[in-house]
This record gives sequence, C-alpha cells and structure tokens, in this order.
Amino acid sequence: MEELKHVAIIMDGNGRWAKLRGLNRSLGHKEGSKTLKKLCLHIADKNISYLSVFAFSTENFKRSKEEIDYLMDLFIEMFRKEFQILKEKGVKVIFSGRKEPLRQDVLDSMAYIQEQTKENHNLVLNICLNYGGHSEIIDTTKKICQMVENHEITEEEINEELFEKMLYQDLPPIDLLIRTSGEYRISNFMLWQMSYSEFYFTNTLFPDFTEKEFDQILDNYYQRDRKYGGVKS
Ligand code: FPP
Repeated sequence: MEELKHVAIIMDGNGRWAKLRGLNRSLGHKEGSKTLKKLCLHIADKNISYLSVFAFSTENFKRSKEEIDYLMDLFIEMFRKEFQILKEKGVKVIFSGRKEPLRQDVLDSMAYIQEQTKENHNLVLNICLNYGGHSEIIDTTKKICQMVENHEITEEEINEELFEKMLYQDLPPIDLLIRTSGEYRISNFMLWQMSYSEFYFTNTLFPDFTEKEFDQILDNYYQRDRKYGGVKS
C-alpha cells in the first residue's frame, strides 16, 4: 500500500456553486470555508500528517475589490473564531505565501492562529494564502543567494535537500493532489513539492465536497502503483 503523508487540495468551484443558486460569488467562499473546516476535522483523525490548501493565489488579487475584501474578512473570521475547534482537535496551522500586500488585520489573524496551534501535532494544515509556486521558487533562490553572500553556506552545498528546507515551509513532498470543480490544471500551486504527486480531479464543486468523497479518493490512491521514475517489480 502506498504511503500517504501529505495531501494537497485546490479548492475550486466556490463561485460556480453560488452562481448555480443565484447567490453572490462570495457566499460560495463562505460555504467553501465550512467544507474546509469539516474536512480538517475528518482528516485530523486519520494517519495523514500534512494537508496543504490553496486559499488565495497571488493572481487572485485581480478579482473585484468586493470579492477580495469578502475573502480577507472571511479569513479573519475563520482564523480568529471558527478554527478554534481545529485547535482542540490537535491541528497545527501554518501559512505559505508572501506577506505583501496583505492587510495588517489579516496578517494579525494569521499570526494569532499560528501561535494558538503551534504545539499541536495531529495534523499540519498548511494554508497557501497570497501564494504562487513561481514566487516561492524565486523567494527561496533569493534566500539561498543571501546565505552564500553571508558565507553561511558555499555554492557547492546547494542541493535539492537544502532547497526544499528553504522553501516557505519545510514540508514533505505532496503524495496526492486533489482539485475540485472539473478543471484540469495546477494553477501555479506548490510546483516544487508536486514533482511526483498523484493527481485526482473531481467534478464536484468545493462547497459540495464531502468527507465521504475524500475517503473514496484515498481508496483510489491506495490502489495506485507509484514508480518515481523507476520500475516496480
Ligand atoms: C476558488 O474558487 C476558490 C478560492 C479562490 C478561495 C478558496 C477559499 C476558501 C475555500 C475559503 C476558506 C479558506 C480558508 C483558508 C478559511 P473560485 O472562486 O475560483 O470558483 P469558480 O471557479 O467557480 O469561480
């Protein structure tokens, strides 16, 4: 049976979920946030150590001010109130992404939930917020250049292992990526960490995604034969 340490989810389809019901797109995000909370509680009981989710991409700043403001306020509400139950369930919340140009109240709520959950060990929830895969690789490269310039390491010491450690978070590779809403793209998400991931695409819109479907996807994953470029006997 394949090992499963790190699952990642591109939580897509919130806008369409709302539109189908004649609602404002933002209400789809609200419903998506409830789905995420339920999923985390479900996964915390499983033998999975890391869950990475795409909450807001650097490109999402191209959306309307109204939608961006709604999402930022929703993040604050989740991190300050709704995620308290995750704290009790042993979930440790961490973030990946750039701080600029996030609002100070959003940054404060992120720091708050990180601090509140830092001693937890059941499940690490890595929330990618103002995140881009290319930006992560560029920012990491700059950090490493700085280390060489400061004589903390030599150029010869730069290898894949070091690079991985210097990314926004030191995480194991993603074993399984799930994308909802029937789109077959990775949209600049965790490019380094996804080099050997198994992919699963479902037509379900994220607000409709259930714990049951998640378990069915796990069953499908466990039946796969991962080769990592080699040959399995
Ligand atoms: C993509 O759907 C989803 C997002 C840009 C936001 C994801 C955010 C949440 C699920 C809210 C909760 C998150 C946290 C961390 C509390 P879309 O708007 O692109 O949907 P569409 O493709 O149907 O328009």
